[in-house]
Amino acid sequence: MGEDCGLERSGKNLGRFVKAARRSEIPEGSARIIQVDTRTLAIFHANGEFFAIDNACLHQGGPLGEGEVYGTRVVCPWHGWEYDFSTGSNVDDPSMKLTCFPVRVQDDDILVEI
Ligand code: FES
Repeated sequence: MGEDCGLERSGKNLGRFVKAARRSEIPEGSARIIQVDTRTLAIFHANGEFFAIDNACLHQGGPLGEGEVYGTRVVCPWHGWEYDFSTGSNVDDPSMKLTCFPVRVQDDDILVEI
C-alpha cells in the first residue's frame, strides 16, 4: 500500500483538508477539475472512492480531469499518456509520478489535503 498516494503522503504531510467539491458533483467513473487555493486538481471517482492528482499532464500539461476514465486510469486528452490516478504513476513509465493528494469524504463534501 506504500504506492497509494494518499497513504504515502498522509504521514509526512502537515497540510490541511479543504473542501474541494460535493460528492454528487462527481459521479462514479467520472472526473472534475477543481481549483483549490493556487492548485488545479483533477478529482476522480472510481470503485466508490475519490482520488485527487495534479490536473496537469507531465508531458505538456494537458488537462487530465478532461481525460477518458476507466477503472483507476485516465487517458490524457491531448496525446494519450495514461496514468493510474490511485498512485499518480504514468502507466508506461511508473517512475513518472504526478503529485497526488489525500482525500477525505465527509457527508456530501469531498475534502482534499493540500
Ligand atoms: S499533454 Fe498529456 S499526453 Fe501530451
